Amino acid sequence: MAQKITPYQWAKNVGSEVLRFDTNTLPSPPPCVNEFLKTLVDNCPINEYGDPSYKKLKNLISKYEDIPENTITITNSGDEALDIIGKAFLNDGDYFLIQPPTYEIFKSQCEINRGKAIEVPLLKKTFKPDVKNVIKVLKSSPVKITFVCNPNNPTGTTITLEEIELILKNASGIVVVDEAYREFYGVSCVPLLAKYDNLVILRSFSKFGAMAGARVGYLIANEKLSQVFDAIRFPLGISYFSCKLAEKLLEENQKWIKDQTKMIKKEREKLALSLKKLGYLVYPSQANFLLVNFGKKAQVICQKLKENNILVRDKSNKKYLEGCVRITIRNEKQNNKLINSLKKLI
Ligand SMILES: Cc1ncc(COP(=O)(O)O)c(C=O)c1O
Repeated sequence: MAQKITPYQWAKNVGSEVLRFDTNTLPSPPPCVNEFLKTLVDNCPINEYGDPSYKKLKNLISKYEDIPENTITITNSGDEALDIIGKAFLNDGDYFLIQPPTYEIFKSQCEINRGKAIEVPLLKKTFKPDVKNVIKVLKSSPVKITFVCNPNNPTGTTITLEEIELILKNASGIVVVDEAYREFYGVSCVPLLAKYDNLVILRSFSKFGAMAGARVGYLIANEKLSQVFDAIRFPLGISYFSCKLAEKLLEENQKWIKDQTKMIKKEREKLALSLKKLGYLVYPSQANFLLVNFGKKAQVICQKLKENNILVRDKSNKKYLEGCVRITIRNEKQNNKLINSLKKLI
């Protein structure tokens, strides 16, 4: 009998006329894309396999992160990285710990790999982690993987490095800290790698690099774990195009990444203020999105926005997120369009 799996749900086949506030992506691709496409016209060795060790990309990431190359595993997206983690650590019925509401793929990917979820929900109202309870569970159950999302998707809330250390100290298995949104926060647990062998950090080029369509991610962990991850990943899971684009991004667009991050952080404050002025509860966010409580009218508001070609992520019927909608921060003009549409609705 095949496994029963609930597919990840998001808007499909969305037209280019739609303004997307639902996917936590950046408002424009990185500037290196145009030049990259031009170089392909003269040199596109797509008849050959690329370099399965991704040597150059690893070298560039090691400089970007200030970590040794042998602690990096390049993956075909952050989502594939989650699958690799599940494959590496889970046997039938093994426990993994999640802190809902959080990134849904933690659960689905680990269940596909036959794991069993233990849920320690974030605290009501603040969406802060319930570290006491996490530790209680870790002390009483053989948990193989503990997931920490920092900043957390979809709440935008964070966990301190001290709290992460507490979890690392009490975990008999590995602790995965998902830092897909790190740049919009500015705090990383990379310095903890030297102290904790059970720490695994997940990263993705989708958000900070504005490369969601290219599908490139990576894991950071001690050398031994990295060798295991490297053995599990597809020998050449990333296409030639995606690998070369990620290299070019780190070679040429690091200043642009910083500028975009700065712009998003500024817009985050402005958009939060505008939404609060409209009377909505906005949770404090350190990511490139806001969780907003639209209350009982959430579904109607989302539908009306959709009719105006504006897509937001309706989470209002999800457990722990009643009435909530997740809104990506885009550029000033686009954010203003969203606010004006909301004003018209009211
Ligand atoms: C918290 C978190 N982790 C990982 C990912 C995976 O990103 P990707 O598969 O695009 O690399 C996402 C994507 O939205 C995310 O929100």
